[in-house]
Amino acid sequence: MQIDVFTLVPHAFGWLTEQRPLATVLGTEIDLRLFGYRDTTPLPNGQVDDAPYGGGPGMVLRVDVVAAALDAVYGGVPGHRVIALTPQGRQLDQKVVDELAGEQHLTLLSARFEGFDERILTHLCSDAISIGPYVLSGGELPAMVIVDSLARLQPGALAEESARQETFSSELEGGAEFPQYTRPADFRGWRVPEVLVSGDHGRIEGWRREQSRARSAR
Ligand SMILES: C[S@@+](CC[C@H](N)C(=O)[O-])C[C@H]1O[C@@H](n2cnc3c(N)ncnc32)[C@H](O)[C@@H]1O
Repeated sequence: MQIDVFTLVPHAFGWLTEQRPLATVLGTEIDLRLFGYRDTTPLPNGQVDDAPYGGGPGMVLRVDVVAAALDAVYGGVPGHRVIALTPQGRQLDQKVVDELAGEQHLTLLSARFEGFDERILTHLCSDAISIGPYVLSGGELPAMVIVDSLARLQPGALAEESARQETFSSELEGGAEFPQYTRPADFRGWRVPEVLVSGDHGRIEGWRREQSRARSAR
């Protein structure tokens, strides 16, 4: 899968690319490219944004700057999905992540400040995604959220089995994962549930299913 991210802050992604699971699948299952709008802007002095028509605070990412970035990389608006990251977009959830994972090529556009000139959304993008009903300062974190959620789904990204029964998985009927515990079995009198140290795998499985259902019904 090819993922291209257009951003004003390409270096923000350094941390993510060094971490598993993304680091494990980079160059094999996922090819991630980062493009800076300032590298291809047709405007002098690296300008990428401008004051809003009609007045108001902040700066708006210019349509000619984003068009030039897409021209430089694809020779125009590409045929694959070009997703604007905006708090006004369709809200990301595991179903949307699964849908995106089916794409061969994805482009993610992030903005900062007041956001995108509306013509970017209407003429250069296929759709728009929000990572939640709150406003962040830029699209870099949302892009990283999407890239990380896609990396987890790639073959070899996670230790075998670890994604099989996790929150939202079909094995747990789309519900919450059961509670997890590790050593010590007793810490300050806070004991691990007896069933988990019983060695009875049938009971453990039954308890986990029950806990998962109870949590999902909350
Ligand atoms: C400060 S926000 C702009 C908000 C915009 N003026 C509005 O009121 O809808 C700057 C940029 O951060 C990104 N962003 C902020 N919150 C986001 C969210 N919840 N999901 C996806 N992207 C977001 C988008 O790229 C957005 O254009």
